[in-house]
Amino acid sequence: MIKPHKLVMIPGPTPVVRSIQDQMGRETIAFGDARFIEDFRSVVKDLKELWRCDGQAFVIAGSGTLAMEMAMANISKPGNSVLVCSNGFFGDRYVDICRRRGLQVDVISAPWGKSVTPEDVEGKLSKKKYDIVTATHVETSTGVMAPIAEIGKITKEHDALFVVDGVAATGGAEEYLDTMGIDVLISCSQKAFGVAPGLALLWASKKALDKRKSLGTIVDSYMDFEKWLPVMEDPSKYWGTPPINLIWALKQSLEIIKEEGLEERYARHKKQAAVVDEAVSSMGFSVLADKAFRAPTLAVYLYPEEAGIDDAKFRAIAADEGIYIAGCLGNYAGKGFRMGHMGNIDKHILISAVAAIERTAVRNGIKLELGRALGILQRGLIEESINQI
Ligand SMILES: Cc1ncc(COP(=O)(O)O)c(C=O)c1O
Repeated sequence: MIKPHKLVMIPGPTPVVRSIQDQMGRETIAFGDARFIEDFRSVVKDLKELWRCDGQAFVIAGSGTLAMEMAMANISKPGNSVLVCSNGFFGDRYVDICRRRGLQVDVISAPWGKSVTPEDVEGKLSKKKYDIVTATHVETSTGVMAPIAEIGKITKEHDALFVVDGVAATGGAEEYLDTMGIDVLISCSQKAFGVAPGLALLWASKKALDKRKSLGTIVDSYMDFEKWLPVMEDPSKYWGTPPINLIWALKQSLEIIKEEGLEERYARHKKQAAVVDEAVSSMGFSVLADKAFRAPTLAVYLYPEEAGIDDAKFRAIAADEGIYIAGCLGNYAGKGFRMGHMGNIDKHILISAVAAIERTAVRNGIKLELGRALGILQRGLIEESINQI
């Protein structure tokens, strides 16, 4: 029997293209094999150069949350003060991570759908000395993108270290360590890189590496920059076994990114977000994020209130129609769905996704003319001249 294809349109993991899958299916070789060492070296070099990091990029086995912890493990000690800029669920995750490490945490929380502003951050930093400021670049619970460059500038002026959670942004939304004043950027493989889950990615500026050095021995070993630095500088060295096939997969993802061009990739994501929004909104769904903060990588689409949608049923029918979308979190649970459109997404995927949402909407009793939203998407794809990757 043919197994119907299910599109993975949750906000990560994202669709993994064949050339990346092929790397994961390769026969695993020894991590001391010269061929792997060269591949690992090129991955670390590309990450460092593409995201313009004057310190070091780290690639280790783990998920995004490990990278979040790793950032704090290496640049803080108990008693340090941290300002967490939270735009939702994953911003709040940093509060817990910091408190467990004995850090003094203050939080600026934006109402869901909006972002903490540079003025909010200036207000806090001008009244109290903070060692670290954290911000979530794209908040996956709300589809909001924070003004990272502006917050980074203020953080620098007040001489604090700036940690950015780029899990749902890196590789899809503009993000550079140097011009945005980022000291530690954290991310992972399964979102805009379009690789399967399993790699924690982290970039540390020279300033962050110096901070780590000043701390002496830290309690964490697996997450210790000092343990991994020799490996990242020379991958023939050993600290923990590298996830060989995933590193090959990331190498392939970086080849795709370089071929497309980072700036072109950022532009494509913005255009895709705009045309998908227009198509999905035409069915009566509304975007949660304020227009000014709309992320280019994913969206929260709220159900039309009058339609009386049963959330679990809606998403079950969506799965039956061949598309996985995610439920909403926090106060928005049950009120809409979250859809990713980041990474190696092409026109065929977007067309199938919007068509599946149209069928799902009709089967859930939403009154609409089948094909209208798809037509809007098609027109947008042509007018915006969105390139195939
Ligand atoms: C913004 C953000 N930060 C952190 C995480 C945690 O990453 P992981 O689930 O890979 O641990 C996620 C997961 O979706 C996320 O979206």
